[in-house]
Amino acid sequence: MGKPDIKVKNSGICEIQRIDDLPDGSLFIAEAEKSVPFKIKRVYFINKLANERSIRGRHAHRKLEQIIFCVNGSFTLYLDDGKSTQEILMKEPSLGIRLGPMLWHEMKNFSYDCVILVLASDYFDENDYIRNYEQFLKMTE
Ligand code: TYD
Repeated sequence: MGKPDIKVKNSGICEIQRIDDLPDGSLFIAEAEKSVPFKIKRVYFINKLANERSIRGRHAHRKLEQIIFCVNGSFTLYLDDGKSTQEILMKEPSLGIRLGPMLWHEMKNFSYDCVILVLASDYFDENDYIRNYEQFLKMTE
């Protein structure tokens, strides 16, 4: 499968190791400070996204580094660095996308079986969130 062409700032592709053990499944391996470019302090995943009108994200972070994966199914990742935007179809579990600081992101168009996995460089901190888009735009001027 082709890799997406990342055009926005503070993003990029994080490819993790994939071992196809078919017919006994596929194995995916993410290693901190190797394939993942930071120490992982937090992991979270999102499932039960069957409502096709669901939207998640809609924020940016001040300092947090994250890598987002679609480990099952598919969804659309919308990225906005304040100057340019792009959409990425997420459906290849080995291709994570970096959500670096000051990158507005939204997740939508989930398949009924979609499961999202996120690796984060720090613990949860609501003060690191920018949830107001106008404020985000001002900060990226
Ligand atoms: P949020 O990050 O806005 O979710 P998403 O980006 O997936 O749409 O978080 C949703 C809620 O969950 C919000 O009230 C904060 C809380 N939350 C935690 O308490 N800890 C966490 O690690 C995360 C990711 C969210």
